Amino acid sequence: MNEKIFKALNEQIKHEFYSSYLYLSMASYFENIPLEGFSKWFRKQAEEEREHAMKIYDYILDRNLHVDLQAIDKPTVKFNSIEEIFKAALEHERKVTHWIYQIYELAVQEKDHATHVFLQWFITEQVEEEKNAQDNLDQIQLFGEDKAALLVLDQNFAKKAS
Ligand SMILES: [Fe+2]
Ligand SMILES: [Fe+2]
Repeated sequence: MNEKIFKALNEQIKHEFYSSYLYLSMASYFENIPLEGFSKWFRKQAEEEREHAMKIYDYILDRNLHVDLQAIDKPTVKFNSIEEIFKAALEHERKVTHWIYQIYELAVQEKDHATHVFLQWFITEQVEEEKNAQDNLDQIQLFGEDKAALLVLDQNFAKKAS
């Protein structure tokens, strides 16, 4: 693996851990309201993001290199509304997709076929991640004002998370 790809992959580990941090922050907002279902769902997202980071971590190790862990940025910790959170989550997933595409293009450019194939899992995963984030936002925008509907949504999120 060349230096450019190595750097980009380590950077992506950081982004995945940041995603995990961001979703934990969102989970705590919901826990305080309290909307337990939303909180559970974001906790689960946080776990999944950690798994994404570890997938790249293991891949670097499989290539016989040392992982070069970077400092994780502080996530947003103040949110003003439920809708704001779901908007931010969608925006964040789009950003992640963009970063994955960049490394993918780099792998093609540098003719790193192994990394190219490795990243295909992430590209497929991002389709799912963006779809979920978009559906969640749509639901909140449709029903979020109605308190009874919000309670039902919260129960649905609890189910999705378990
Ligand atoms: Fe991820
Ligand atoms: Fe994600």
